[in-house]
Amino acid sequence: MTTAGAGRATTAKVRIAVAGAGLIGLRHIEEIQASRGAELASIVDVSPKAAGTAREAGVPLYASLEQLFAQDRPEGVILATPNQMHVDQGLECIAAGVPVLIEKPVAHALADGIRLCEAAERAGAKVLVGHHRRHSPILHKAVEIVRSGALGSLVGVIGSAVFYKPDADGYYDGPNAWRRQPGGGPILLNMIHEIGNLRAMVGEIVAVQAFASNATRGFEVEDTVAINLRFANGALGTFLLSDTAACPKSWEQTSQENKAYASYDEDAYTIIGTRGSLGVPTMRVSRYLSDADRSWFKPFATHAEPLERADPLANQIEHFAAVIRGEARPLVTCRDGLANLRVTDAIVEAARTGRVVATA
Ligand SMILES: NC(=O)c1ccc[n+]([C@@H]2O[C@H](COP(=O)([O-])OP(=O)(O)OC[C@H]3O[C@@H](n4cnc5c(N)ncnc54)[C@H](O)[C@@H]3O)[C@@H](O)[C@H]2O)c1
Repeated sequence: MTTAGAGRATTAKVRIAVAGAGLIGLRHIEEIQASRGAELASIVDVSPKAAGTAREAGVPLYASLEQLFAQDRPEGVILATPNQMHVDQGLECIAAGVPVLIEKPVAHALADGIRLCEAAERAGAKVLVGHHRRHSPILHKAVEIVRSGALGSLVGVIGSAVFYKPDADGYYDGPNAWRRQPGGGPILLNMIHEIGNLRAMVGEIVAVQAFASNATRGFEVEDTVAINLRFANGALGTFLLSDTAACPKSWEQTSQENKAYASYDEDAYTIIGTRGSLGVPTMRVSRYLSDADRSWFKPFATHAEPLERADPLANQIEHFAAVIRGEARPLVTCRDGLANLRVTDAIVEAARTGRVVATA
């Protein structure tokens, strides 16, 4: 797995428009401005605030994609708009023949996502989905170690995304009160990133079970979820998710990829095989060196795999530029985005019904 475009000198920069200059859209704008392979062409946003952002960036502002395409033809569009707009706006980009990076989730609802992927496939369109951790050197290294066979056959994975989201600054109140309601909790906001990690490192997920609790915050939506996973390759997994937990064992607090979070030398995942196990993101490998050593009475040989950290959002922009130039195929396809959404939907259903839910 490589992030094409990283590490190469580029001459002509591709012109990219960003639709939705909100929280994540502004991050994309920053990364484009710092990029070797891309430049900002314009901003598309309906908010009065966006006029200042566009002025500062020195690019035109459009109120809709329709307006943009009537007046300009960027070489790519990033959709960082609210979830429910991704499908319609993605279809507009496909119809205009413009490559598109769609923020996660690829769609608000599975059926609409299928419609989008089918349209993209019919048109042969370039669609990349914004599961940015797939551009993380940590994830690349973990996948490389698993695929090398160093851990033996996969037995299972223990994962966690346990962190404390402060309820200060109106995070759960006023216009943000949707975060207290079904759909606004950590399954749909956070778990979709972890599903992307799990599918990349361990394999396709075929069934899930889940217990959800709202006992701590008392909101209508879950605050804590215990999840069991069955993988197509026979491995099993267990995952604890909570946004009300005073614990560092999350990707955000261990990967050092987003400096806004406090950082700890801990793991968010342990990937376990028949010969050894791997802590991610510490990259600590504990292995039996021979079959004769495979015993809980014998010590492991341990080492930490070297790793060069980089910002996955920046890598994602270089990758999107390479996809636009025809030098790379999307690392996260429309179907990948859909597969991640299918698993999060299955977790919601499993928690609601108490049943095992198949994802295939
Ligand atoms: N990859 C990640 O880690 C990550 C992180 C945060 C958000 N996201 C995703 O990015 C998307 C945006 O989230 P956010 O937190 O930045 O939201 P936000 O509310 O901060 O920003 C959304 C922006 O879209 C604009 N907008 C609304 N309707 C529009 C329209 N019709 N055309 C153009 N612009 C329009 C809004 O004015 C706003 O500026 C969501 O899908 C979210 O799931 C991804």
